Amino acid sequence: MRAIRSLTSQDRSDARHRLSERFGTVVCVGGGVGIAPIFPIARGLKAAGNRVISIIGARSADILFWEERMEEASSELYVTTDDGTKGHHGFVTDIVQKVIESGEQVDRVIAIGPPVMMRAVAGVTKPFGVKTVVSLNPIMVDGTGMCGACRVLVGGVTKFACVDGPEFDAHEVDFTLLMSRLAMYLPEEKEALDYETAAEPMI
Ligand code: FES
Repeated sequence: MRAIRSLTSQDRSDARHRLSERFGTVVCVGGGVGIAPIFPIARGLKAAGNRVISIIGARSADILFWEERMEEASSELYVTTDDGTKGHHGFVTDIVQKVIESGEQVDRVIAIGPPVMMRAVAGVTKPFGVKTVVSLNPIMVDGTGMCGACRVLVGGVTKFACVDGPEFDAHEVDFTLLMSRLAMYLPEEKEALDYETAAEPMI
């Protein structure tokens, strides 16, 4: 228990350190629920003196959230929706590409969202050699590095996202493995959801 407490404290310290770093211009990308964790990162990096260009996206305007918060936390904000109901009609990657191709010096990209989105962002930034960090979300069980459930492959090396991450170099992540492991229990998840949906209310 003491070890877990001290690990948590170290994690907090590391997180504070990362948020106070000055990189220059940072592009923060949040997709879907990934907008929530990208918000404090954008805010911290802006407070540390970085120019923060944020790009947030969702399938549709009705599930997009925290636009105002992200506006405050950023030097510049772009919004995208897959169906065109708000902002740019398309994907966050369209804007990442546009910003990089505009000639703006981008020192770092941080992307959090669905794995397919993070893989796409990595695909856009890699040819330009822009350092890109993603926060991975594999299935986790014990969260202490012992069960192996959260294993990911980064640069050909097995890592445990719970203790080695969750942030990794996007250009080194094996997203195919990540996505296949995330889909491992889809039949059971569907069965549980169907059961819950069909169940009579307890009260
Ligand atoms: S969740 Fe068990 S090793 Fe990471």
